[in-house]
Amino acid sequence: MTTKVDPWADIQGKVDYDKLIKEFGTEKLDKHLIERLESDAKKKGMTLHHLIRRGIFFSHRDLKWILAEYDKGNKFFLYTGRGSSGEVHLGHIVPWMVTKWLQDVYGVELWFQITDDEKFLFKPELTLEESNRLAHENALDVLAVGFDPKRTKVFIDTEFAGTMYPIAIRIAKKLNFTTAKAVFGFTNEHNVGAIFYTTMQSVPCVLPSVIAGRNIPCLIPYAIDQDAHFRVTRDILPKLGYYKPAALHCRFLPPLTGPGKMSTTGSAKDSTIFMSDDPKTVRKKVMKYAFSGGKDTVEEHRKHGGDTTVDMAFQWLTYFEPDDEKLLDIKRRYEAGDLLSGELKQILVDTIVPILLEHQKRRGEARKAIGDCLIKDNKWNG
Ligand code: TYM
Repeated sequence: MTTKVDPWADIQGKVDYDKLIKEFGTEKLDKHLIERLESDAKKKGMTLHHLIRRGIFFSHRDLKWILAEYDKGNKFFLYTGRGSSGEVHLGHIVPWMVTKWLQDVYGVELWFQITDDEKFLFKPELTLEESNRLAHENALDVLAVGFDPKRTKVFIDTEFAGTMYPIAIRIAKKLNFTTAKAVFGFTNEHNVGAIFYTTMQSVPCVLPSVIAGRNIPCLIPYAIDQDAHFRVTRDILPKLGYYKPAALHCRFLPPLTGPGKMSTTGSAKDSTIFMSDDPKTVRKKVMKYAFSGGKDTVEEHRKHGGDTTVDMAFQWLTYFEPDDEKLLDIKRRYEAGDLLSGELKQILVDTIVPILLEHQKRRGEARKAIGDCLIKDNKWNG
C-alpha cells in the first residue's frame, strides 16, 4: 500500500497532484491552454471535454509547443496504450475518452500500443500466451471507445516487435542501469526483461517519424502513473535526433472504496467496475462498496447533509456525468440533505450503466473493424 506514484505501484490513499507536478517537473494545465483547447473544439462544433473542464486532466508537458507546431501546419499524432493483464475497467477509459476527443478535435492519427510483453514480464503468474490473448480482447475495448478506425493503428508488442526492436535498442543504448534504477526503483531481483521494457514504451513516440522519414510531433494522454516512462524517453529522444514527446496527464479514477487508483490488483480489486459488467453487477458493487459521505442516520443526514468531497458516488459522477448543471444540482441536493446516500448511489448506477451498455454494443461491432486497425510485422505496408 502506497501513495507513491509509479507505473507498477498499488496506489492507495489521497494523491497530492500538485506535489506530483513539482516532483515530476510537469506543468499545470492552466486557464490559457484550456481556453485554447476549447476554442479549437468550437471550430469543430464541439464543446470542451468535461474531464478537462473539471481539472481531471490537470497537467501536461509541452502542450503549448505542440499546439504552436499544429498552427504552423506541423500536425501531431496521438499515442497511448494499455498493458494487457486483465479486463479493461472504467479507470482505463478515462484517458481514452479524452484521447478520442483530441482525435476528433484535431483530426489526427492515434497509435495505440498494447504491451503484452510488459505484463508478462512484471506479473509472475501471467503466461505470455494469456497476456497475448488478453491483448486481443483489450484491443476490442480500445475500438469500442469510438476512435476513428481510419485514423487508428493498434499494435501488440510481441506481434510488432520486428518493427519496434531496431528503435528500442537505439533507445536502450542511451539508458544506463543507474538511471533505470533511480527512475523505476529496480533492484537486483528484477528480471532483465523488466529493466529493458521501458524502451518498448518509448518506441511509439518516434515510430511514425521513423516510418515517414521526418520528425512528427507526438502527444501522449495518460494517467500520471505512466509518467516515469516518458521522463526517461524525453531525455533520450533528442540525443537520437527526435522531438521530445508532449504529454497530457489525468488524475486516477479512485476505487469505489476511497481515494487512490482503481485497479484490478491490490486491496480494492473486488469493487473494480469492468467494462463488461452487467447492470445488476454494477448496482451490487456500487451499493456495497461506494464509500459514502452521508451521515449515520437519515435524521442526521436530512439535518446536516452529506459530504461530496469524500463521497465516492459523487466523485465518480464528476468523471462520468458530463452535464455541469445536473452535477451541481445533485451536489446541492446531497449537501442539503434532500438526497440520501442510497439515492446518490442509484444516480451513479443510472449514469454508468448506459456508458457500459453502449461500450459493450460497440465492442461486439469492433470484432469486424479490428482487422483493419491491428498492425503486425510482415502484414503491414505502412
Ligand atoms: P495500464 O493498462 O495500466 O493503463 C492503461 C491506461 O489507463 C490509465 N489508468 C487509469 N486512468 C485513470 N484512473 C485509473 N484508475 C487508471 N488506471 C490506469 C493508465 O495511466 C494508462 O494511461 N504501460 C501501460 C501501457 C502503455 C501506455 C503507453 C499507457 C504502453 N504505452 C502510452 C499510456 C501511454 C500500462 O500498463 O497501462
